[in-house]
Order: sequence, then C-alpha cells, then structure tokens
Amino acid sequence: MGKKILVTGGSGYIGSHTVIELQKSGFDTIIIDNLSNSIPEIVDQIARITGKKPLFEKFDMTARPALEEFFKRHADIAGVIHFAACKAVGESVADPLKYYHNNLVSLIYLLECMRSQKNQPKLVFSSSCTVYGQPDQLPVTEKAPVKQAMSPYGNTKQISEEIIDDSARQTGIASISLRYFNPIGAHESALIGELPIGVPNNLVPFITQTAIGKREQLTVFGNDYNTPDGTCIRDYIHVCDLARAHVVALQRLLEEKNETPHEVFNLGTGTGYSVLEAIQSFEKTTGVKLNWAFSGRRPGDVEKVWADTTLANLTLGWKAEKGLDEMMATAWAWEKNMAAGILNNLNKNK
Ligand code: WQD
Repeated sequence: MGKKILVTGGSGYIGSHTVIELQKSGFDTIIIDNLSNSIPEIVDQIARITGKKPLFEKFDMTARPALEEFFKRHADIAGVIHFAACKAVGESVADPLKYYHNNLVSLIYLLECMRSQKNQPKLVFSSSCTVYGQPDQLPVTEKAPVKQAMSPYGNTKQISEEIIDDSARQTGIASISLRYFNPIGAHESALIGELPIGVPNNLVPFITQTAIGKREQLTVFGNDYNTPDGTCIRDYIHVCDLARAHVVALQRLLEEKNETPHEVFNLGTGTGYSVLEAIQSFEKTTGVKLNWAFSGRRPGDVEKVWADTTLANLTLGWKAEKGLDEMMATAWAWEKNMAAGILNNLNKNK
C-alpha cells in the first residue's frame, strides 16, 4: 500500500494527468471533485491507462461539513495536491464573487481540515504565472514582484499563495506552490486530455476544435504586440511534464527536504512561442491546414511571458522534456479520439 494522496479537482485536465503520475510512482490516490468542469468518465480512463482505479468522491469543497467528514474518514492522507478551483479568466471578470467564494473558501476549509488532522498532510498547490502579470524582465523568476492581477481569477491565485504562506508558517503544514505557465497537450495514450466544456477560452483546444471542424475559424487576438511577429508569446508546457513536477514536489515535502515552510516554483520550459509559431507547429506536426484570422487584442492579455526554470531544475531536480511539436501532436490525437466518441462509448458501456 502506497501513501494516500488526496487530489482535489483530480478529474480535471491537470489533475487527471497528475493522478496517473502519482499512481506510476506507487501512491494511492483519492479524487474529490464537484464535476463543475470535468466528467466522472475520466476516472475510468485513468484506470484504463494505469490499471488502477483511483477512489473518487463527488462533492463541493465549499461544503464544510462534508469536507470535515471526509477527512475524518481518511485520517491517513499523507499529502494533498489542490487543483480544485474555477479557472476561466474571462468568466472571473464577469462573475468575480463566484471566483473569490469558490477558490478562496475551498482553500481555507481545506487548510483548516488539514490542520486538524493528527498527522498533518503536506500541501502542493496549483498556482499560475498569472501572478506575475506582465513581468518587467524576461525570463521571469520566482523573485519577480507579484503584480496587480489582470483578473479576479489571477487575484485568487495571488491571495491563495499568501494564505498558504501565512498558514504554513503557523501550522507547520509544509507547502509548495507551483506556478504553471501554459499547460497544453494530452497523455500519449490519447485516452485523457483537455476537456473544455463549451467554447474553449484557451488557444490549443480552440486550434484542435477548429482543425477537427467543430469551430469554423480560429481568431488570433492581436498582431500589433511588441514581439517579432506581432502576436503574444507564451511558455507552453506539456501537461505530462507538469504532472511529473507535482510528484517531484510532493516527494520533496514527504522527505522533508523543503528549506522553508512554503516554497514556490515556476513550471515552464523556459522557451516562449508566439501564437503564430504555435499555429505553425500544429500545422507542421499534424499536416492539417488551420483556418484562422486576426482580430483585435483580447483585453487582459499579457504581451509576452516565459519562465526562468532554474529553481525547479536545480532545487526540484525537474526539467520539462517535451517540445512544442509533441504537445501539438498529443493534443490533436486526443481531439480526434473525442471526435471518434471515445467518451460517449464509455457512457454506452455503462
Ligand atoms: C494564449 C495566447 C491569446 C485563444 C490563461 C490563464 C492561465 C491559464 C492558461 C489557468 C494568448 C491567444 C487564445 C484564442 C488566441 N489558465 N489566443 N485565440 O491567456 O496565456 O493563460 O490560460 O490556469 O492562468 O491566464 O492562455 O491559451 O487563453 O492564450 O489568439 O482563441 O493565445 O491571446 O496570446 P493565457 P490562452
């Protein structure tokens, strides 16, 4: 029996890929998820990939009694990887209170439950490079100043890190916050991947849905930025490289190698690509010509951001391995599987 790890939001995009890496590393996993942005079939898909079905419980982490009762039933949780949060930048502008309530209340209840455990679990938290806004210097390091958030979503990540920082010192719950850059791609099996519900906000699912014919045309938001080809630059990272980093961070905490109560690491590749370069990579890798056109800038977009990954490379001993072409190839394989009804068939098999 491996150590038991709670993965909140574990049926989601990054959560599900992380559960697979945890199981591969010998951990026992239990997922809690309110299924607001994922489907339960993903748990079956994880089992198809690893041969081991994670425990799963559906409930809302802002329902405190349910969360307290859960922790009473699982007193042996050694670590928590906390993904559960609303994450759509645009939606957070339209409905800030939903984001502050869901993202912050669920974190506070989680931390209070963890504090009450006889053996306090370790915490790995899903943060975001959004906390940097538009950095003054690139590549951006963890020492860069956290800037005025560009959205309520980004602000919930900043506030969450501050809550974790203060509480880790007081409670002794050793914590690591991982600042993701742009996670894209899918597991090599093409049995799980990004599952945007409704019209995708993010670039790569919009690319693959346009390529498969689900969307008419991709809109490229802005071509007048101060970048080589005028389009925004991002540090795209394969979701499986990202997932692996969560296991490494968790093991660091379980082995009590953390140097401070709350550590922060950038998770990127260290290389930035423009929107046009991302499109070119997709077309070259898949052979599919994409229908796209320029429009005006998208409000709130950062012009260019990519990570200085030195700290994660040297301290965590982790480095992203997959390149942009592989990210695009796996995203495309997953999109084609979804179009072939891979998830619907699961429904039918029930
Ligand atoms: C990337 C680039 C767009 C869609 C956000 C959050 C971040 C994380 C990932 C949660 C930008 C351009 C996009 C489209 C486009 N979310 N684009 N046409 O905004 O960098 O990051 O999602 O963890 O925290 O901030 O990602 O994929 O939306 O955009 O031209 O249809 O693609 O303008 O330059 P973003 P994105």
